[in-house]
Amino acid sequence: MGNIKIGGDEVFVDDGGSIIDACESLGVLFSCQEGTCGTCEVEVVNGAENLTSPTSAEEMMGVDIEGNKRLACQCKLKSGDVELTYDL
Ligand code: FES
Repeated sequence: MGNIKIGGDEVFVDDGGSIIDACESLGVLFSCQEGTCGTCEVEVVNGAENLTSPTSAEEMMGVDIEGNKRLACQCKLKSGDVELTYDL
C-alpha cells in the first residue's frame, strides 16, 4: 500500500493497483486509458521505483522515461509512496 501525491494532496492506492482513480481524483485528465493519447502524462518527482516498469505502450508513445515521465494510465503501484506533478 502507498499513496499517490500531487501538489500536497494524496490518495491511497493498494499494492498492485492501478493509479488511474487516485490520479483522476488529484486532477490528472485521462482519455484513452490505453497508453495511446498522452493525455495522462505525469512527471515522477519521487518514488519512481515504486511504480511498475514502463509498458510497451509507453515506449511506443516515446514517453521520456529517462526524464521521469510516465503515462499514469499505464502505471500500477508496487508499494510505497509516489509523488507526481501534472501540467494541464
Ligand atoms: S489516458 Fe491516454 S495515454 Fe493515458
